[in-house]
Amino acid sequence: MKVGYIQTSPIFGEKEINFDQVTELTFKVKADLLVLPELFATGYTFISKKEAESLSEGLDGQTAEFLKSLSKKTSATIVGGFIEKEKEDLYNSAMIISDSELLGVYRKLHLYYKEKLWFAPGNRPLKVYEINGVNIGIMICFDWFFPETARSLTLLGTDIIAHPANLVLPYCQKAMTTRCLENRVYGLTANRIGREIRGEDNFNFTGESQITSYDGKVLSSAPLDKVSVDLVEIDIEKARDKKLNKFNDIINDRRKEFYLR
Ligand code: ACM
Repeated sequence: MKVGYIQTSPIFGEKEINFDQVTELTFKVKADLLVLPELFATGYTFISKKEAESLSEGLDGQTAEFLKSLSKKTSATIVGGFIEKEKEDLYNSAMIISDSELLGVYRKLHLYYKEKLWFAPGNRPLKVYEINGVNIGIMICFDWFFPETARSLTLLGTDIIAHPANLVLPYCQKAMTTRCLENRVYGLTANRIGREIRGEDNFNFTGESQITSYDGKVLSSAPLDKVSVDLVEIDIEKARDKKLNKFNDIINDRRKEFYLR
């Protein structure tokens, strides 16, 4: 199957411009799975909950509509981030859309830095979406820092982790090689580029979106300072074989009775 990332450079608060950027980048792209960055339509560096709320949406908002049309145009399942509003709460969420249909929403479990001021932490179990026989799990950005996230998705049967991101620390791209190796799953990290200086914060987003193989190899790495789309052909069966060699199965060899919960 053909999977890819769309690395963008969002303009803060300018949804239509950010949608147009994705439309331009995906002109003529056809794939099975495409991942967009975390909060790709809104930008990241809010200065108040009110501001984040003003850019938030329900499940039938502009971003859902845009991603539905993108899934149709590209024939791909799409995973992309948005600010989800439910009652009084905002979540840093990602939707998964296939065939112009919203299949589900993941709410980021591990909030980074001031996200804790604007967003409620994810309150739903990790989940795997089976689409055309492929199992897709979702985590968002800082979730990578908690190995339990990727491991839980693996134990649920994930073949590919779709990983929308707005990375500001320099560790994730290297760490994803270990996350993928230790779980024998594919990773699809879609990061953004650019800088946001807002309030007292000054974030430089690190680009280098990455497609990581089940054996820890980097199959694609985007530039750190340019918008970019890349697609790679992957073999899902490889991620289903958890045997490292004749003697070691990385799931069955776990010594659960000695681990802490
Ligand atoms: C992050 O989780 N966006 C750093």
